[in-house]
Amino acid sequence: MIATSLLQIIYLIASVTFIVGLKFLGNPATARKGNLIAAFGMTLAIFGTIFLYQKDGENLHNLPWIFAGLAVGTILGFFAAKKVQMTAMPEMVSLFNGMGGACAMLISIIEFQHLSSGSLVGQEATVLIILVGMIIGSVSFSGSMVAWGKLSGNVKDKSFGKQQFINIGLLVVILALAYFTIMGTNADPSMLFYAVLTLSLLYGILFVLPIGGADMPVVISLLNSFTGVAAACGGFIYDNKVMLVGGILVGSAGTLLTIVMCKAMNRSLLNVLIGNFGGGAKGEAAGSSTFEGSIKEVNASDAAILMRYAKKVIIVPGYGLAVAQAQHVVHDLELLLESEGVEVKYAIHPVAGRMPGHMNVLLAESNVSYDKLVEMEEINPEFNSTDVVLVVGANDVVNPAAKTDPNSPIYGMPILDVENAANVIVNKRSMKAGYAGIENELFYKPKTSMLFGDAKKALTELVNEIKALG
Ligand code: TAP
Repeated sequence: MIATSLLQIIYLIASVTFIVGLKFLGNPATARKGNLIAAFGMTLAIFGTIFLYQKDGENLHNLPWIFAGLAVGTILGFFAAKKVQMTAMPEMVSLFNGMGGACAMLISIIEFQHLSSGSLVGQEATVLIILVGMIIGSVSFSGSMVAWGKLSGNVKDKSFGKQQFINIGLLVVILALAYFTIMGTNADPSMLFYAVLTLSLLYGILFVLPIGGADMPVVISLLNSFTGVAAACGGFIYDNKVMLVGGILVGSAGTLLTIVMCKAMNRSLLNVLIGNFGGGAKGEAAGSSTFEGSIKEVNASDAAILMRYAKKVIIVPGYGLAVAQAQHVVHDLELLLESEGVEVKYAIHPVAGRMPGHMNVLLAESNVSYDKLVEMEEINPEFNSTDVVLVVGANDVVNPAAKTDPNSPIYGMPILDVENAANVIVNKRSMKAGYAGIENELFYKPKTSMLFGDAKKALTELVNEIKALG
């Protein structure tokens, strides 16, 4: 009795740490602390369950197996998180999310086996929850595995004629079979259950396969919310409050993040799911442009003079900054310019990079002060009064086609209005496109100069040239 009450208190504390942790995750300055607080709560809940959970007066059995599983998971998770490159983070999130979906799926399979060893009559509500957890968990598992494959470049976008109709048809069959599993027919309920499981796994694959590469982070966020809902079903099955709270938090946070990302790209979720955006061409070589104007190159020494004698410089970081791992040198550049009396700010586009908050996390790594990171809505009116904009490895987020070309796949996406500044210097390695796979007219504008090269190398040269100016 005491053990059970103590366990409920532990679950309450853990639930509070999840909520406080989430709150802290909302700001780069407190995010690390938030993560630790929530992890502490989760650890408490796990060990509380292992040692205090009782059913029919008995504690959990199979402790060696449980600890072996914990050890394997902890070691794998620790080294994977230590080793992962910042640019491969969405892949890892997808893989881990898939594991969460698989857990929810396995819980449902095991609980269904327990239940179906007796009669299912009168157990309809429990079977319903088991099935909901199993369907959502398995869609999340197989969908996340495909998303992981796509992000690591091992799986290509694939859609075939009438795929949307096949997907809808499949969903209808899954729901019909689930209905018959719950309500009972002449067919063996286990057979129906495993048919639902197989079709749900297939649905997860077919659901994610045609979605364009650039939309993967949105899909991962959506699948993440699925996993949360599936875990919450586990909470219902076991009458476990902390699982329920954790699942609901993941489900709602994932849903909100999905909505925020779609909004930042000015696209509906439906368009993301069936729009097939950004998976194709990776851009043309220089010279094949359809735009008027020409490419103007600038070298590091001329760029250094322009920036050193400017009053105000805005740096626009993008995915290429992360690829080049140039976050430290860009911070050096900022400090150097400021020591020369230049005002420096960073313009942060909500979907720059490949995951939410990518640029904030990256720049926080090199200790850039948070008040220097200015969100898009706030910084856009400032470009008019800016002498130099330095775009580092960003492309789609500064592409004017989003405003001017209704046929463009990024049309309607809010962008950083860098062309309003007096001078624009764009650093990238070539004329290749960004993730959306489209050309960028900004590079051909009279005020734009291209500083070609890997961001780390180019910015290091720029810093040296500015120092040489004295
Ligand atoms: P992108 O449009 O992807 O452009 C990045 C550019 O960086 C490329 O054109 C590339 O050109 C350059 N680059 C790559 N490696 C480089 C290096 N080592 N040094 C210098 N430059 C390098 O990036 P963005 O402007 O940040 O836009 C993000 C895109 O991802 C948007 O389309 C957005 O919708 C999409 N997306 C983002 C998210 C989130 S949540 N962030 C979610 C979904 C979709 P070169 O190859 O010529 O160097």
